Amino acid sequence: MPMIEIDPKYRLGVAEMDREHAQLIQIVNDLKAGLQGGTTLSGEGIPRIVDRLLQYTNTHFNHEEQLMSENRYPGLAEHRKMHAELKRQIEQFASELSGQHETMALKINLFMTIWLFEHIIKDDADFAKHYRLRHEHP
Ligand SMILES: [Fe+2]
Ligand SMILES: [Fe+2]
Repeated sequence: MPMIEIDPKYRLGVAEMDREHAQLIQIVNDLKAGLQGGTTLSGEGIPRIVDRLLQYTNTHFNHEEQLMSENRYPGLAEHRKMHAELKRQIEQFASELSGQHETMALKINLFMTIWLFEHIIKDDADFAKHYRLRHEHP
């Protein structure tokens, strides 16, 4: 996969998280490009992109929760719940995808754009602060 620069407003200063967030944002952008009839990076159709979104969301959430656990983050349980809820929501959208690609993809795109922005700048940022404090003052 190509390297993607993350938008500075999403940057948390935890390399692994920033890298994966950039990847996640790229998938959401692919979906947007697919919707606008443009060419996606990979030339895939919408169901394939949604599938990739689901898979990568899983991968990222697992990594992030692992990192939180290793760093004894007190907000882990609550954060895990937020991740589970988002996964449930995307799976729900994906299951409704057949036959109405455009509408559902639009819904997923809008939902993910808002969710990602809010989650990264608030919830993931809370952990990033905790992480940086631990690593600056171990
Ligand atoms: Fe998160
Ligand atoms: Fe995250």
